[in-house]
Amino acid sequence: MCGIIGYCGQEQAPALLLRGLKDLEYRGYDSAGLSVFAPTGLQIVKTAGRVADVEEKWDRQKPKGDIFCGIGHTRWATHGAPTERNAHPHRAGQVCIVHNGIIENADSLRAEFAAKGYPLLSDTDSEILAVLLDAAYARTGEALSAIRYARSRVVGSYACAALFSDQRDVVYAFRKDSPLIAAKTQIGNFLASDFFAVSRYGDRYMIPEEDEVVVLTKEELLICKENGERVVKPVYTVQPDSRDTGKGIFEHYMLKEIFDAPDAVRKTCEAYMRDGLPDFQAFDTQNLRFQASRIGIVACGTALNAGKLGRYFFETFAGLPVFCEIASEFRYYTPPLLPGDLLIFITQSGETADTLAAMREAKKQGVPTLAVVNTPNSAAAREADCVLYTHAGTETAVASTKAYIAQTALLYMLANEIAARKGRLTQAAVRENMRQLDSRLPVGMANILADCGTIQALSDVYCADNASCFFIGRGADYDLAEESALKLKEVSYIHCEAYAAGELKHGTIALIAPHVPVVAIASGERTYEKTVSNLREVRARGARVLLVTDRNPSAELATIADDVYTIPLRGDLFALCAAVFFQLFAYYGALRRGCDVDKPRNLAKSVTVE
Ligand code: G6P
Repeated sequence: MCGIIGYCGQEQAPALLLRGLKDLEYRGYDSAGLSVFAPTGLQIVKTAGRVADVEEKWDRQKPKGDIFCGIGHTRWATHGAPTERNAHPHRAGQVCIVHNGIIENADSLRAEFAAKGYPLLSDTDSEILAVLLDAAYARTGEALSAIRYARSRVVGSYACAALFSDQRDVVYAFRKDSPLIAAKTQIGNFLASDFFAVSRYGDRYMIPEEDEVVVLTKEELLICKENGERVVKPVYTVQPDSRDTGKGIFEHYMLKEIFDAPDAVRKTCEAYMRDGLPDFQAFDTQNLRFQASRIGIVACGTALNAGKLGRYFFETFAGLPVFCEIASEFRYYTPPLLPGDLLIFITQSGETADTLAAMREAKKQGVPTLAVVNTPNSAAAREADCVLYTHAGTETAVASTKAYIAQTALLYMLANEIAARKGRLTQAAVRENMRQLDSRLPVGMANILADCGTIQALSDVYCADNASCFFIGRGADYDLAEESALKLKEVSYIHCEAYAAGELKHGTIALIAPHVPVVAIASGERTYEKTVSNLREVRARGARVLLVTDRNPSAELATIADDVYTIPLRGDLFALCAAVFFQLFAYYGALRRGCDVDKPRNLAKSVTVE
């Protein structure tokens, strides 16, 4: 999703802005640009495509002389195609802006200002911010009052950085519902959508509130109210494990992050385990977890799939009723909430707009909120009543892998602790579960990682030429099927569907024709044989079947399935372990099809608009 950077300091701004934009690339984008105070005045360079294209263009057009201040942007198109004219920065009169978010009343504002004779040069909602700022600035000559005016007119979400052409080497920025940080460093002052863009220069940053304005000059980083009154802000420090450590020896971030899975489990266990038992006491600010009589899990994408596996753990271990809800649905179609409900919001980034809006709705209704978050000090972490951090470390590839593993591991521990408190599991049983999680699971994952050659070969067979792929399973295997289908479709662009194995025959089996790939996940005692029967049904219709299972199949079954992959980890942790298999399966599938694995088309890492 859109990324923003602003800089003012002693170094040459264009190089720093371009470097920062590259660090924001992981968020997902389709065009980019920058605007700087060149010796001759404000200069804009932008283009559809990659930051490297902007860099090339800048190198061709750059003026002579020093440049100490500017703003930059990576755009993920929402309003208007990903073209050069829609790329940011946008200029209106004396003002140049970059924007992340959505201005919901842009159409009516554009009509209003077009009627007044303002030229509108793009199809974006963002441009109107420049127009509003310029209109007010022309009247008052005061940036803060122009910002106050623009804010009073727009409805929607924004993080906006602005340059005023007659205020050389000053950047203004303000936000509502979209992330923005400000950082004072050795080489000057920065603002950005997230601290990755600036973390190579320092590890301390501040977060402006929604009624505040950030002002960057060479000497100063000022955060003030709209009336200019200075505000003293808390300073956050970037946690060592939330720094981007690069790809290391790996070809892609996604592969590196899949290989980080055992570590993500170990670190998350380390944080929430004492003497071999789960321990969430230190984080339990409002005794949230023991009083709940029902749990609601709300999230998006992979985080929601982690929640679905979490539901299985809470129901199985703790006997708690659980509902899972897509955040973008929950925020507008909130199900009836009951006294005794606890709502858990799961989010890797902690900045997903729909998840945050859903959390705000829950808080409005007075329901306790718990955030399971991977990114320290993110909005979800700050706003929830209670936060539990997953310790997966920075996740850079758009497709979430190790964060899913850490999220499910944390929910597994939490479910065990609740079960123990409710007397549904003995301490000995919980201790054994923790031992499995802490030691057997990482070993099981490491074995899968060591076998990546076999998985690549299997993936080649199932992904090379196929247009679609079905995943089936029951219970926790179905939850994993949903995540596995999502993973494969987002990185390989193969049309993938996950079905509860027993549901397939109620319609979707019509799509099963000879050679259509079906991946069947079958584990555990309760439904293994049932899923195997469903496998036979699709095989009878000519599907090419890969069985992923927790045991060596019978000789007969081994001849029915075209391929079998055995992950010898029996019990409730099978799904967590097998997730690594499916992440590799998706990765190699995407690689085989020549896709941009780390930055799949149209996707964004941090979805900060609804
Ligand atoms: C985007 C990403 C997914 C992610 C989802 C939720 O769609 O591409 O990988 O699962 O957002 O993100 P969150 O940061 O809230 O976990």
